[in-house]
Amino acid sequence: MRRIGVLTGGGDAPGMNAAIRAVVRSAINRKVGVVGIMRGFAGLIEGEMRDLDSRSVGGIIHQGGTILRTKRCPEFKTREGMSEAVENIKRNRVDGLAIIGGNGSFHGARELSIDWHIPTIAVPATIDNDITGTDFSIGFDSAVNVALEAISKIRDTATSHERLFIIEVMGRDSGFIALQVGLAGGAESIIIPEVEYDLDRICDNLKERKKLGKLSNIIIVAEGAGKASQIRDQISQKCDMDIRVTVLGHIQRGGAPTAFDAVLASRLGAAAANLLIEGHSTKMVGLMANKIKASSIVDPKGYAKRLDLDLYRLVQVLAT
Ligand code: F6P
Repeated sequence: MRRIGVLTGGGDAPGMNAAIRAVVRSAINRKVGVVGIMRGFAGLIEGEMRDLDSRSVGGIIHQGGTILRTKRCPEFKTREGMSEAVENIKRNRVDGLAIIGGNGSFHGARELSIDWHIPTIAVPATIDNDITGTDFSIGFDSAVNVALEAISKIRDTATSHERLFIIEVMGRDSGFIALQVGLAGGAESIIIPEVEYDLDRICDNLKERKKLGKLSNIIIVAEGAGKASQIRDQISQKCDMDIRVTVLGHIQRGGAPTAFDAVLASRLGAAAANLLIEGHSTKMVGLMANKIKASSIVDPKGYAKRLDLDLYRLVQVLAT
């Protein structure tokens, strides 16, 4: 392998730059050239690529976003889009790809290698943390810390006004962020797609806590479980409370990576480059029990990553 490509796909995640840097410098360390593909799979289709050297990834380890930029790319799901991408990969003499992204990017990596025989190694990077084969994906810890900081500030005003806040966090199909920030932020309830919620129970608990002298309440809602504003409407029909809604939104995807994410991204990016250079393909790298492990890229549709429901129960116990 003489030259590998690197791209970032899907929603950006803090730590993607640290992963790019690790891919580039690990490959160069083994005398393999690296080309950066711009705007994810769109750059493969459009042939927008540029050579990367050690200096071109200097000063980025602490930067949020992705220097290679990213784009949702429905064209890549078509046969024409894929075939255009494969032609560009060959034309640019790229021998394999390190693909940094979430489930959609993993799907693309799998198809490229199985159907089109392009060697690929996938690196999990999504704030949603919903990728099977790794305990943590790059960006999750950073997003959780951003959300936690916001929630702690909301707690101050909630207590002053004796209000209930319903805070919506990201997580398209999963409750990993909601669960983590809910536990860390002392939330009174968490609403996630993985567990059916019982509105009567939530309202009974709110009333009970009020009797016990609790001044503020915070309910964290994962966006995949419903809209915070709808839940506010449902709760206000059942209990008399002063309620406000906050949707944290894309703020959770921005900012510098935490130390945890910068280290994780460096380890995973380096492992991906090394695996590609050693001739592996259709694999992902992940962190399992603090060790970097390679495994096959599974079809995300068939293997939804399981949430630890003990954490969910712990939130309920600690919220009294
Ligand atoms: O990358 C994951 C994610 O942030 C989800 O949590 C969210 O549902 C989605 O991306 C939002 O995507 P977009 O930025 O394309 O609106």
